Amino acid sequence: MKGVVLAGGLGTRLYPLTRVTNKHLLPIYDKPMIYYPIETLVRAGIDDILIVTGGNSAGDFLRLLGNGKEFGLKHLNYTYQEGEGGIAEALGLAEYFVDNDKVIVILGDNILEDDITPYVKAFEKQEKGAKILLKEVEDPERFGVAEIEGDRIVRIVEKPQVPKTRYAVTGVYMYDSKVFDIIKTLTPSERGELEITDVNNAYIRMGEMTYDFLKGWWTDAGTFESLFRANRLIREKRMKEKMAKEQI
Ligand code: DAU
Repeated sequence: MKGVVLAGGLGTRLYPLTRVTNKHLLPIYDKPMIYYPIETLVRAGIDDILIVTGGNSAGDFLRLLGNGKEFGLKHLNYTYQEGEGGIAEALGLAEYFVDNDKVIVILGDNILEDDITPYVKAFEKQEKGAKILLKEVEDPERFGVAEIEGDRIVRIVEKPQVPKTRYAVTGVYMYDSKVFDIIKTLTPSERGELEITDVNNAYIRMGEMTYDFLKGWWTDAGTFESLFRANRLIREKRMKEKMAKEQI
């Protein structure tokens, strides 16, 4: 399975922090933001990874990450998204890289406590279709929100004013190679972007979408509040790791 980290976009919600640099290069406690999604993929055994970058300071990713040696990788692939055409547009740029394989996509501003290996293994066994990971949150109106009937997702609504559930769709998506045909059928949303929620709804309509719930904490880092929260959560994690080490 291939891995794709999406780190394009202009990060305008974080202006002026992102006026001259890329959101995914900002610090989350002791590491640049982009380290966390890469580590999440590597921990799950994904070693063929493409970074889709864009916006400001795109060249800095190469200087920072090189060939991925720090993550135990032999090689890293890069591509560039012009403008801010949306998450699905950014993923569309990975078509030649993914070829006919399956792909796991992670948003460059998503930080997870969980090791996602079990979900990746389950998707490897899934014959076809897609899998998403959900998390119950206090502020679902900021996210794609999943509506569930029995054990089936019936619909995802992007940033609903009145969410029907508290189940946020996290920025970890697993797809078969049909995803690229689906992306080609999309039209831009009201915010002028090709929406990943439209891709997911297409899989739901085909009856090919499965889901799991994340167990540990999850956050994005694209607003001042969530960036602050991400820093706090990682700091707490580091403190716990330090204490555990000292007890050995
Ligand atoms: O964090 C999870 C949420 O991410 C989902 O619940 C939503 O359904 C999904 O639409 C997305 O919502 P946001 O509006 O928060 O996404 P945002 O525009 O902040 O973009 C998230 C990441 O996606 C960003 O850090 C980099 C990548 N991206 C985004 C855009 C718009 C790109 O690579 N290219 C883009 O053009």
